[in-house]
Amino acid sequence: MAQKARKVRKAVLPVAGLGTRFLPATKAIPKEMLTVVDKPLIQYAVEECIASGIEHIIFVTGRRKSAIEDHFDFAPELEHFLEERGKPEQAKLVREISQGLQFSYTRQSEALGLGHAVLCAAELVGDEPFAVLLGDVIMEGAVPATKELVEIYEATGSGAIHVERVPRERVHLYGIVDAKPMNESKWGEKVLTIHGLVEKPSAEKAPSNLGVTGRYVLPPEIFDYLETTKPGTGGEIQLTDGLCRLAEAGKMLACVYEGRTYDAGDKLGFLQATVEIGLKDKKLGPRFREYLRQQKF
Ligand code: UTP
Repeated sequence: MAQKARKVRKAVLPVAGLGTRFLPATKAIPKEMLTVVDKPLIQYAVEECIASGIEHIIFVTGRRKSAIEDHFDFAPELEHFLEERGKPEQAKLVREISQGLQFSYTRQSEALGLGHAVLCAAELVGDEPFAVLLGDVIMEGAVPATKELVEIYEATGSGAIHVERVPRERVHLYGIVDAKPMNESKWGEKVLTIHGLVEKPSAEKAPSNLGVTGRYVLPPEIFDYLETTKPGTGGEIQLTDGLCRLAEAGKMLACVYEGRTYDAGDKLGFLQATVEIGLKDKKLGPRFREYLRQQKF
C-alpha cells in the first residue's frame, strides 16, 4: 500500500468564536478583523500560512463574520480606482492579500468550542495532515511558527504544537502540557514528547508551565478522536481532548517556541501587539518610538 502523503498543504483557521473578551468592539465586527497597526489580526495568520508553504486556507466562520470573506476576496474595482488615482503601491497591497492561495469557507452554526470548529472542517481537509492557526494569536519569530511545526510533522509523522513558558499566575488561562524532551539530536531540548494535556488547570495542578500557544499541525486521525469526544461544560468540544487522545497514541510532539506570541484576542495582549509591532514597523516605528519617549509614564 502506498504511504500516506505527509505534505502539509491545508490550514484551518477557526474564526467562529464570539469574542466576548473584546465587547463591545466585537458586537458587529469579528474579533479577527480588529486591526494591529495596519492589518487585521487574521491577515497576520494568513501571511504566516503563505510563509509556511500552505496552499489552501479553510475558514470556519459563523454569523457576523462576512467581513473576513470580503477581506480575502478580489477587489477589482478598488484596485482599478487606486491605479487610476496614481496609487499603484496601495493597489499592490490590496492585490497581494490573497495572492496564490485557495480559500474555502464552512460554517460552525453554534460556537461549540475549538474542537468542534476544527471538526467542522473535516470534509474540506479530507484524509491529509493540516495546520490549525488561531486567528487572534500573532506569532512573530525568526522562522514562521507554522513552518517550524510543518517541518516537525513532515519529519516524524506526529502531530506538533507550539508551547511557551507561562508565568505561574497565568497557567489557569492555558492548555498545559505534560511533556519530556524527545531527545532527537537535531532538535535538542526544543522538541518534547507530549504525555498528556490539561485545559486551564490551577497552578497547583498544572503538570508544567508549558502553555499551548495557538499553532498546531495535526494528522487527519484527529477527526476520529474529535467525533467521539463527549461535549464538556457548556456543550463545548475542546481540541485539547482530541490532542490528549493523539498523545495517548504516542503521536503528539510539542515545540518550545522561541519567538514572541501575542494573544491579541485579549485586550492587554492586543495593546502589547500594537505597541511592539508598531515599534518594529519600518515607516512608522521611529516616529512612534519618539512619541512614546515623550510620554510621561
Ligand atoms: P477564543 O476562545 O480565543 O475565542 O478561541 P472566542 O471564544 O471568540 O473568545 P472569547 O473568549 O469569547 O473572547 C480562539 C479562536 O477559535 C475560534 C475563535 O473565533 C478564535 O479565533 N473559535 C472558538 C471558533 O471558531 N469556534 C468556537 O466555538 C470557539
